[in-house]
Amino acid sequence: MNQEKIVVIDFGGQYNQLVARRVRECSVYCEIYSYRTPIDQIKAMDPKGIILTGGPNSCYEEGAASCSRELFEMGIPVLGLCYGAQLMMHVLGGYVCKAPVREYGKIEVTVDRTSKLFGNVSEKTICWMSHNDYIEKTAPDFRIVAHTADCPVAAAECEEKKLYAIQFHPEVLHTQEGTKMLHNFVYKVCGCAGTWKMDAFVENSIKAIREKVGSGRALCALSGGVDSSVAAVMMAKAVGNQLTCVFVDHGLLRKNEGDEVEEVFGPNGPYHLNFVRVNAQQRFYDKLKGVEEPERKRKIIGEEFIRVFEEEAKKIGKVDFLVQGTIYPDVVESGLGGESAVIKSHHNVGGLPDYVDFREIIEPLRNLFKDEVRKVGIELGIPENLVYRQPFPGPGLGVRIVGEVTAEKVRIVQEADAIYREEIARAGLDRSIGQYFAALTNMRSVGVMGDERTYDYAVALRAVNTVDFMTAEAAEIPWETLSRAANRIVNEVKNVNRVLYDCTGKPPATIEWE
Ligand code: XMP
Repeated sequence: MNQEKIVVIDFGGQYNQLVARRVRECSVYCEIYSYRTPIDQIKAMDPKGIILTGGPNSCYEEGAASCSRELFEMGIPVLGLCYGAQLMMHVLGGYVCKAPVREYGKIEVTVDRTSKLFGNVSEKTICWMSHNDYIEKTAPDFRIVAHTADCPVAAAECEEKKLYAIQFHPEVLHTQEGTKMLHNFVYKVCGCAGTWKMDAFVENSIKAIREKVGSGRALCALSGGVDSSVAAVMMAKAVGNQLTCVFVDHGLLRKNEGDEVEEVFGPNGPYHLNFVRVNAQQRFYDKLKGVEEPERKRKIIGEEFIRVFEEEAKKIGKVDFLVQGTIYPDVVESGLGGESAVIKSHHNVGGLPDYVDFREIIEPLRNLFKDEVRKVGIELGIPENLVYRQPFPGPGLGVRIVGEVTAEKVRIVQEADAIYREEIARAGLDRSIGQYFAALTNMRSVGVMGDERTYDYAVALRAVNTVDFMTAEAAEIPWETLSRAANRIVNEVKNVNRVLYDCTGKPPATIEWE
């Protein structure tokens, strides 16, 4: 696809993905690259503009992340943010040093003169600052455009060379007019036309997949999650029944989930593909019998999943393409895109399964963020309940049952979870909470029901708000919703006599219960 592109150069700042998202929200396509990327490679991409992100270093220190002077001399507009701004000044002959006053948080910025970047931005505007160093002296040919009480250079520019440096973070929503500034950069400075639209993306992708696959065969492991479902539908629209989707029901799915997936992708659903559902529940329960240790359980589930998938793949024989629902944050988190360290290992980017005989891998969502994947899903006509499904871990309820996993415990947690989800939806909270579910503690205690003594399980309810799932806060659910869910669970789910709400954040807890 030959489309206009903005390149974000990542210096290890925590908001790097946010920068890319904001640019895409302006309908301009954007990708993140490490600052180590050779300049020729960047040039070859022919970007309409370049954005340098923040970063944890001091640009004047030995060994700090840097870039060459050439980057600013290619005639391509460059916007430096925070560290990126300081680096631009440092490389071009300005002076950056430790600031006498460290600025952190929402700070009022005064815009001193007219500038393309600040067109239609208020003269006094609240911006998000987070810096220890500051620009004491701008590089030659730059003029100061904005300041704060403690920072003489909050923004500077060299309009002739299309170079812009801003000390704050326009990508963070606390910067009240940040989106306007980024919009100004991509449209007024870089001259983008804004052609990045979902419908065009979907259409182009389908065409490209069709060309690539030709008359070949493709295989997709369908989990029922958003990413693999959207990838599968896109493939199905492109190549129809040249695609086989294998859906392994490991018996650790949410209530009715297996049937819901089958309804959409199975023979009675709207898509023409080969759908194989493997009901492997008992196989998994047998393997998990007597196993209590969490990591061991995860390993068993993971290995068994591969065994089942492998058996099915063998029945299909040689395929040409293996489809994966990898999305952009997986690529970046795995250290393949930007500068951030490898964060999660449970994504399968980079580690290709060697048990399926295939020629090539297809990742139709590799360049998209989660919310964009959802938009593609809607564009493809996938039911909303599937598109807006909350994240569900690969090992499923295996990481929501403490101690040994049994069919009976799965039943309990499925029932409790279904009730909890119903009540969250009834309260209108289902789209606003990051992740919520019921887990089964391994704890039984004495209770009383009617006139009888019980000795039953405690269910734990969990709800968290999070940006990246690396840290999270317990959500403040209205008491009415919690108590209604608790009442229903003890009344409707056999073998439960207590319901607890988990108020812990991550850290120190994790989101799942294992
Ligand atoms: P924790 O429990 O580590 O979970 O705080 C963080 C996020 O990751 C999800 N999670 C997984 N997702 N495979 C996945 O695809 C896994 O093995 C896995 N383990 C945890 C979890 O649901 C939460 O969103």
